[in-house]
Amino acid sequence: MKIKSKVLIIAGSDSSGGAGIQADIKTVTALGGYAMTAITAVTAQNTKGVKTVIPIKPKEIKKQILYTCKDIKPDTIKIGMLHSTQVINSVVKALNKIKITKIVLDPVMVAKGGTRLVSQSAIMTLKNFLIKKTYLITPNIPEAEVLTNMKIKNLRDMIYAAKILLNFGAKNVLLKGGHKKSKYIEDILLNKKEIKIFKNKKIKTRNTHGTGCTLSSSIATFLSCGKPLKKSCELGIKYVNQAIGSNPNYGKGHGPINHLNSIIIKKKFK
Ligand SMILES: Nc1ncnc2c1ncn2[C@@H]1O[C@H](COP(=O)(O)OP(=O)(O)OP(=O)(O)O)[C@@H](O)[C@H]1O
Ligand SMILES: [Mg+2]
Repeated sequence: MKIKSKVLIIAGSDSSGGAGIQADIKTVTALGGYAMTAITAVTAQNTKGVKTVIPIKPKEIKKQILYTCKDIKPDTIKIGMLHSTQVINSVVKALNKIKITKIVLDPVMVAKGGTRLVSQSAIMTLKNFLIKKTYLITPNIPEAEVLTNMKIKNLRDMIYAAKILLNFGAKNVLLKGGHKKSKYIEDILLNKKEIKIFKNKKIKTRNTHGTGCTLSSSIATFLSCGKPLKKSCELGIKYVNQAIGSNPNYGKGHGPINHLNSIIIKKKFK
């Protein structure tokens, strides 16, 4: 298989391999991209929860981004967990230097087991500085609630919250509906010109560890090889859906999904 494009991932490590930088690398690779990384934190976790989070120094995170990009320029950047104000500031500084505009931000705040991963002031910095730089932001419902200070109960609320996020300066918003308790999941893509709703049947499983990381990385990969945004989101959602559907059922908690299902997607969407 020939490598199609390059993606830089800025995110935390998940020792259990289902989410974080491990999920990101698997996704980019499975979809034919070349993955590079800047690690922001090292977590000890399994499918049942997070034990510890060891932050990497902001200076070191910035160095990983700048030194890597100086040599191999990424086509897109995917940003995951940034746990502190200092980290966000140093990532913003690095991004200003490398001038890549296709940035996908997954504003990770809480792990699937409920552990809060970032500080309150980090959320403010994200809102005031980083969101403005993003091409696409992909919050889930609880994250969108924190960022917009509103409660999201239905599709109308989701659209309203997405509009607020656009006003923060993101070019596009994909608000994920995975947390809604319903038979169908609606993910909504919104920008100044249009709204697109992706509707899928909710798969009955507790094995959804890393769905959000995987989705943002897959969209970043599709974007990196030149696919338009709407198509990239459609393909990314499909990839995650198939990955959930074929999950290996590992672990005693929220198990990982199957990142190796790209073969099916390739045949279908060539
Ligand atoms: N049970 C499910 N069946 C089908 N699709 C799902 C299911 N759960 C999540 N998804 C899809 O997975 C993608 C990620 O959404 P989700 O809301 O789970 O993100 P997230 O909460 O950020 O995930 P994470 O907890 O891994 O960070 C979305 O496209 C969503 O529709
Ligand atoms: Mg998430």
